[in-house]
Amino acid sequence: MDSNDLPANPESRHREIRSYVLRAGRLTRAQERALAELWPRYGIPAAETGAGPPDLDVVFGRKAPRILEIGIGNGAALLSMAAHDPGRDYLGAEVHAPGIGHCLLEIERLGLGNVRLFMEDAVGVLRDRLPDASLAGLHLFFPDPWHKKRHHKRRLVQAPFVALLSRKLAADGYFHVATDWPPYAEHIAAVLAASGTFGEGIDPASNSPRPLTRFEARGQRLGHPIWERIYPRRRA
Ligand SMILES: C[S@@+](CC[C@H](N)C(=O)[O-])C[C@H]1O[C@@H](n2cnc3c(N)ncnc32)[C@H](O)[C@@H]1O
Repeated sequence: MDSNDLPANPESRHREIRSYVLRAGRLTRAQERALAELWPRYGIPAAETGAGPPDLDVVFGRKAPRILEIGIGNGAALLSMAAHDPGRDYLGAEVHAPGIGHCLLEIERLGLGNVRLFMEDAVGVLRDRLPDASLAGLHLFFPDPWHKKRHHKRRLVQAPFVALLSRKLAADGYFHVATDWPPYAEHIAAVLAASGTFGEGIDPASNSPRPLTRFEARGQRLGHPIWERIYPRRRA
């Protein structure tokens, strides 16, 4: 029997489908320093280090409404929204280390006390590390669109993700989402409508509290239309 005849490792067979590919981006020296020196201050230890769910009242040193942004990239939206909204706490989740490094440097430079970061899969963060009904809002700006049909299953917004999101949002919570890829926008709108747990999405248009992000700028350069909605969670 050669190795091709061996049964597939059940763990790899049943491994969850990931919404990202870990890019081998190189860290700048400043980002390396930030990960070494600033991560202990602004980072939340990953589940794989054996850390349990964080006590966010202790982490932030207060009780306040909390927002989670998934896939922060270099943190442009997270930082700007947190700076303009000091009464709420902002959690950012990202798997790309250079983006986290960049964001740590900016948290320090701007002196933001209301931002903390997760550097691990945001689906696990949402599922295992945050209590139910604990989030005032979830932000998802320009998630990877996974253009090819055979990759659509890798899109973050799917019925199970929306069910998880509904569970983690407080009764008056909201989901704020933006994309530059119309087929993904249609998919998101359809999944949310079918969920039954979200009301009609509101287009914030020019009133959006969201600044221009790197991937939005890229979408604009390519001539893509920007679609953005804020969905209120329906009270149970
Ligand atoms: C297309 S980029 C958009 C970045 C940023 N929001 C912007 O608008 O510039 C999507 C980001 O989401 C991150 N990402 C995708 N799936 C993720 C997951 N499950 N957990 C954490 N980060 C994720 C990717 O690493 C990538 O940086």
